[in-house]
Amino acid sequence: MGWNLEREMDFLEGVFDRHAGRVERVLEPCCGTGRHLVALAARGYDVAGYDLSPAMVDFARARLRSVGGRVWRGDMATFVPPGRFDAAWNPVNSIGYLLEDDDVSAHLECMGEVIRSGGIYVAQFSYGGEPADLARFGPWGNQGGGLSTTLLWEVVREDAAAKRSYQHCRITARRGRETRVIDEDHVLRYWTHEDVDRLVERSPFELDAVYWDNFEEFPREDYRIGDHGNLYHVFRRRSNQAGDAAARGARRGAARGGAKPRRR
Ligand SMILES: C[S@@+](CC[C@H](N)C(=O)[O-])C[C@H]1O[C@@H](n2cnc3c(N)ncnc32)[C@H](O)[C@@H]1O
Repeated sequence: MGWNLEREMDFLEGVFDRHAGRVERVLEPCCGTGRHLVALAARGYDVAGYDLSPAMVDFARARLRSVGGRVWRGDMATFVPPGRFDAAWNPVNSIGYLLEDDDVSAHLECMGEVIRSGGIYVAQFSYGGEPADLARFGPWGNQGGGLSTTLLWEVVREDAAAKRSYQHCRITARRGRETRVIDEDHVLRYWTHEDVDRLVERSPFELDAVYWDNFEEFPREDYRIGDHGNLYHVFRRRSNQAGDAAARGARRGAARGGAKPRRR
């Protein structure tokens, strides 16, 4: 079973049209291997991404060499990439690596600095309490260059009080007769509807729309829970005045003990 990346990119372009107007420059925090950056560059966008992992940065940079685009090393909680962007995209729950409220606020503030007024930040993530069938992803197969990989991802345990979701990823790689199994444990944020609304309210963004992972629009008035699976959230950068006022509020919160944004 594989994810249809081109269908997802069609959806994303539809979201750009509906929610941001003209989009030319796209940023991807947590870009990983750069699979979305490559797909977006092929569609004519000026792309840029960043990731915490130096190995991912090297890999994505090498991949983008033929299609263009920039990749930096950076941490979501502090990194302000150079340049201005019309839109940003952060799929598959990666924003959940920000575990503390202050880090989420600092990240939204960093993003508010680089996304133009009226631009959008599309973040895909699921809420705590996912039912077992949604909390298991895969097996997801991939093949290329004589290597075949299978990825299985699952939520192992959740702690709603501590707002943590303990997850496990198993990658099985086969080349010829050789098989290698890589097991990784990940700790992600346990999101709740209230937390998202509260953190976004004091950020330079507002929630403009939500979509199901089948790309249909999710009713805005509905209470969002784990049963809804991996939802795409469209956050719109408020006008400079409104966004800056919210960002000042978040900065005051950060000054009381949170992470500080850093421009490179
Ligand atoms: C599940 S992968 C997703 C990669 C990519 N967006 C994709 O869909 O293929 C999550 C990525 O987030 C990166 N990451 C984790 N915490 C991060 C942080 N605090 N700042 C930036 N990147 C981070 C990891 O290194 C990893 O590459």
